Amino acid sequence: MNDHKTPIDEMIGLDSQILSAQLHELSERLFPPSAEKELRTFSSAEAAALIGITDSYIRQLAKNDDGIIPPKKANGRREFTLPQIHDLRRYLARSKPQYLPNRTTSQKLQTIAVTNFKGGSGKTTTAIHLAQYLALRGYRVLALDLDPQASMSAMLGCQPEFDVSEDQTIYGAIKYDEDRVPIKEVIRKTYFAGLDFIPADLELQEFEQDTPMHLASTDRDPRNLFFMRIAEALKQVEEDYDVVVIDCPPQLGYLTLAALSAATSVLITIHPQMLDVASMSQFLNMTSNLLRVVREAGGNLDYGWMSYLITRHEPNDGPQAQVAAFLRSLFSDRVLTATMLKSTAVSDSGLSNQTLYETRPETMHRRTYDRAVEAMNSVNEEIEKRIRQTWERSES
Ligand SMILES: Nc1ncnc2c1ncn2[C@@H]1O[C@H](COP(=O)(O)OP(=O)(O)OP(=O)(O)O)[C@@H](O)[C@H]1O
Ligand SMILES: [Mg+2]
Repeated sequence: MNDHKTPIDEMIGLDSQILSAQLHELSERLFPPSAEKELRTFSSAEAAALIGITDSYIRQLAKNDDGIIPPKKANGRREFTLPQIHDLRRYLARSKPQYLPNRTTSQKLQTIAVTNFKGGSGKTTTAIHLAQYLALRGYRVLALDLDPQASMSAMLGCQPEFDVSEDQTIYGAIKYDEDRVPIKEVIRKTYFAGLDFIPADLELQEFEQDTPMHLASTDRDPRNLFFMRIAEALKQVEEDYDVVVIDCPPQLGYLTLAALSAATSVLITIHPQMLDVASMSQFLNMTSNLLRVVREAGGNLDYGWMSYLITRHEPNDGPQAQVAAFLRSLFSDRVLTATMLKSTAVSDSGLSNQTLYETRPETMHRRTYDRAVEAMNSVNEEIEKRIRQTWERSES
């Protein structure tokens, strides 16, 4: 209730200040600043699984004593940092190159847009876990946060309110004016070896406002077409990555369309509930109409694959099972076989801005953790397979 007759704009402004101050204090207490966020170490068994070897092979390599396997700790266990896992992969690749998964120069950079305009359909959770999974597997990954709400940035330890200033989002590299910065300037390294990212903040919204004005201008340079802006920017760093993962905002605006034009593959996340499916139907219809315009204007929409991923899935819930079956009957193998299981391990990790891959197993109920990681890995393995199939097709 507004007892004191404060004008509503001032009241909202004041609330925003109070909230912002509290959030700052809270985030300083709860989340270490990005420079301090550190990735956990991995057990010998985890390292072996990530590389695709057996734990006993690691023990055998340790006997060679050439420094490639870290020594046992006082508790008798071996712990690997992610850079040590990458080193071991490179070491093994000297005799078997397939231990390094990176694309060859004839295989194109894969850009995956994770999208759906339905809020809360699991886009950010999917995008961040996919990006980290691929980095753990040895790919060179760039995560692009395209949502002004910046949830993916927060997961990567970056608080947009304090850590991101002007021209430090992709907006700086795609805006229409001449002050555009090279995309390299907005890319940040992370504590996750092999994963770089571009943070988001509210500034991204300016692209939605600039574009109608730009469309009305006389600039007809094809590289400046709004749907080419992200693709053009990514071209500058194409050589540095194997995969780009884009977390799209929950709107079908110019940013999402530019992401869909830059993408080589599209992943649509869908929570299996009838209301969400109805909203997805509208999303598909609008996307199709808008993309037709983009294609007719010369946009590149040559996708390697377009898949649906069922998210926050509860397999024992009857109505959800029906919706999932319905989707599979309509779209057959375009719906990924693996689903993102709903799990408190995902939501609890999220509370402290951590992914499942960052959370230490021993901090959770072990069965809950194992089930969630297993499901998450199955999803990501299936996507990795689609990426590799696209590369293999381009070779033949
Ligand atoms: N598999 C899961 N199990 C449990 N909780 C989940 C799971 N996936 C997502 N969530 C939770 O659901 C909420 C929404 O997920 P998420 O932020 O990934 O959706 P989104 O589509 O990116 O949302 P937005 O449209 O706002 O960007 C989050 O609080 C997240 O922690
Ligand atoms: Mg999101």
